[in-house]
Amino acid sequence: MKKPDSIPNAEGKLGVLLPGMGAVATTFVAGTMLARRGLAAPIGSLTQMGTIRLGKRTDHRVPTLQEFLPLAQLGDLEFGGWDIFPENALETAEHAAVLSREHLDAVKDELARVVPMPGAFDPRHVKRLQGTHVKKARHKAELVEQIRQDVREFRARTGVSRCVAIWCGSTEVLPTINGAHQTIDGFERALLEDDAAIPASQLYAWALIKERVPIANGAPNAMVDFPAAVALARECGVPIAGKDFKTGQTLMKTIVAPGLKARMLGIRGWFSTNILGNRDGEVLDDPDSFRCKEATKLGVLEGVLEPERHKALYGDLYHKVRIEYYPPRGDAKEGWDNIDLFGWLGYPMQMKVDFLCRDSILAAPLVLDLALFLDLAQRAGLSGIQEWLGFYFKSPMAAPGLKPEHDLFIQLKKLKNTLRWLRGEEVISHLGHEYYD
Ligand SMILES: NC(=O)c1ccc[n+]([C@@H]2O[C@H](COP(=O)([O-])OP(=O)(O)OC[C@H]3O[C@@H](n4cnc5c(N)ncnc54)[C@H](O)[C@@H]3O)[C@@H](O)[C@H]2O)c1
Repeated sequence: MKKPDSIPNAEGKLGVLLPGMGAVATTFVAGTMLARRGLAAPIGSLTQMGTIRLGKRTDHRVPTLQEFLPLAQLGDLEFGGWDIFPENALETAEHAAVLSREHLDAVKDELARVVPMPGAFDPRHVKRLQGTHVKKARHKAELVEQIRQDVREFRARTGVSRCVAIWCGSTEVLPTINGAHQTIDGFERALLEDDAAIPASQLYAWALIKERVPIANGAPNAMVDFPAAVALARECGVPIAGKDFKTGQTLMKTIVAPGLKARMLGIRGWFSTNILGNRDGEVLDDPDSFRCKEATKLGVLEGVLEPERHKALYGDLYHKVRIEYYPPRGDAKEGWDNIDLFGWLGYPMQMKVDFLCRDSILAAPLVLDLALFLDLAQRAGLSGIQEWLGFYFKSPMAAPGLKPEHDLFIQLKKLKNTLRWLRGEEVISHLGHEYYD
């Protein structure tokens, strides 16, 4: 990564394109509309609420991220996207039942104007949904072309100067990464051959990268997480990040596990189960989509605890994750964790976490931050995998052969140090010996 000499200001409007306009996407759009009118606070968003320390502690320089960075402003965001159902954002938000009537009424006209474009869809990759608002084409290369055309028309219609995209679509089945995914030419050929191993998310990815639109992937499927997409992103100068928003239970896991490990406490078992009743829960009720989610949920503990380095503490860890579709709860997910840990001389202890959370309320600020940071990254000339955005993901993308960092606190340090570096400020190591010299 080359440090930019300067970062151009965020002139003009920023288009935020959302492939998949369900509960998360509409909670994000409605919330941003409410926040920019001063009707509700964008809580949970680092770009809107966060600060950053600069220089020594004794310098007392702690600007907000808004002051420190040339970020796009909420008033300059334009929303668009695709879905395989035709309902507008107001109808979808009403159906998702995340936000109150009062909140929806306050932005209802603006929300109703956000209408999804027809989606590219392959039911083999999302088995629980039968889309009615879908593109038709002879092969996948033609679908990519249609999505590119949608982006160009969106730009012309709204007059935005830049776009970013955040995948908020359903979780596809566990991806097969085959020979076609390895090179740009190979992938282009596979699109023409209508290769069944290419899911819809990768069609959006290909089209968006070619249109120079940065992408973050909020779901566990391999939207941009394959060699050809990474190569294309580098070639086109497009930042990409993923995958799978780190929101409820996994967020808690990457808060608690680093703490237990910091004190060298052992863990024998970690059982996690969730109940949720939204459409995401329904999609994840399909075993193939669940396996895709399970993979990203399971990886975090191993990443944080490094059992290969700490055999006595974590070598026998039994980690199990379940998701149960339970319609009465809607979006108000409940995540239980039972942790069997052990301390001094091996004496056992237990910890229970019962997180009564709200899925889309936790995810919406992540969509906002990712949109603003990706736009900043592109203006700063960064391209390819943005590992510093791993803070937001269950399964952060990293360079081949590099183990991603899962510890939330290291991820946050990395993110803030990247921002300091981008702005020509000293990165902070927290060594602090200069205060005692
Ligand atoms: N809410 C969270 O806390 C959280 C955390 C991590 C990941 N996620 C992931 O974010 C995604 C969105 O979650 P949600 O709760 O909004 O789900 P949702 O089911 O409400 O919304 C997903 C939307 O994607 C649409 N869709 C599916 N395939 C599509 C395609 N090919 N093209 C366009 N649209 C398509 C569906 O019709 C639906 O409207 C899911 O994949 C979920 O697993 C959510």
